[in-house]
Amino acid sequence: MEVQWVVVQPPRPGPPHAAMALTLSILMGVWCTQALEMSVGKIPFLEAVNGSTVILPCTYSSCIGIKNLYFNWQFNDNGTMQRVCESVIASEGVVPDVHIFRERVEFVGKNRDNNISILLSNITFEDGGQYTCFGRNPKEKDRNHSAVFNLIVVDELRVVDNTLTIIIASAVGGAIAFLMGFMLLKNLTLFVLAKMEEKNKECLVTSSGIDNTENGVPGSKADSKPTPKKK
Ligand SMILES: *[C@@H]1O[C@H](CO)[C@@H](O)[C@H](O)[C@H]1NC(C)=O
Ligand SMILES: *[C@@H]1O[C@H](CO)[C@@H](O)[C@H](O)[C@H]1NC(C)=O
Ligand SMILES: *[C@@H]1O[C@H](CO)[C@@H](O)[C@H](O)[C@H]1NC(C)=O
Ligand SMILES: *[C@@H]1O[C@H](CO)[C@@H](O)[C@H](O)[C@H]1NC(C)=O
Ligand SMILES: *[C@@H]1O[C@H](CO)[C@@H](O)[C@H](O)[C@H]1NC(C)=O
Repeated sequence: MEVQWVVVQPPRPGPPHAAMALTLSILMGVWCTQALEMSVGKIPFLEAVNGSTVILPCTYSSCIGIKNLYFNWQFNDNGTMQRVCESVIASEGVVPDVHIFRERVEFVGKNRDNNISILLSNITFEDGGQYTCFGRNPKEKDRNHSAVFNLIVVDELRVVDNTLTIIIASAVGGAIAFLMGFMLLKNLTLFVLAKMEEKNKECLVTSSGIDNTENGVPGSKADSKPTPKKK
């Protein structure tokens, strides 16, 4: 009688961290596709009392670096864009010479840490509206990039309700965390299942081996049993 020994190779599940690594690389990819990015911060609006002095924040960032970056600030006055100021930044860290077209405006960012914020003094109700921070980097075929900041001029300062922003932010964060946890758990479960299956198959092979030796002639066991195939 011939005893067939088959070494069962269980399918190898991917390591549980593979999903996470993939997610990370996708995130990095998204991050770096935008060569130049203008940002007015996490809260793109400000409510200020007339007569006060405010900073309109803006920073730029670029994966590929900048050279002769053109930027300006524009004010949307009833649909027509008015230039507030403009300049060209030769390279990172250089303080640019900024042309200012509007009164009570000062360039305060000084290009320190890519900061191109401006200061608006003694604001009036006419100053309220949309301000666009615009940038164009010749290094990336003159593509236009911009970010919009809203200035709301009020008589008296009300308490700004940030609850909704916080709720949305935590909901998005929670969803991402849940998804990552779910993927990890799924991979872990598959891994454990595969391990259990492997154990089961080992048991089957062992018991069939015992069955065969019981049927065979005692003593001839060593002769009739071929060496197990190894892979
Ligand atoms: C703001 O505007 C109100 C109403 O026009 C005026 O009474 C007040 O004096 C102004 N405040 C400042 C600081 O200019
Ligand atoms: C802006 O537009 C409104 C109507 O759309 C008009 O009444 C107002 O005079 C305009 N203001 C300026 C500064 O052009
Ligand atoms: C802002 O108002 C104050 C007091 O009215 C004045 O001294 C100052 O020069 C004004 N600033 C600008 C930039 O106009
Ligand atoms: C940009 O510069 C202004 C003025 O120096 C400062 O108040 C602001 O915090 C800076 N913003 C960032 C993001 O560094
Ligand atoms: C970028 O903006 C300028 C105006 O500032 C416009 O003339 C040009 O066509 C825009 N280029 C692209 C690629 O959108």
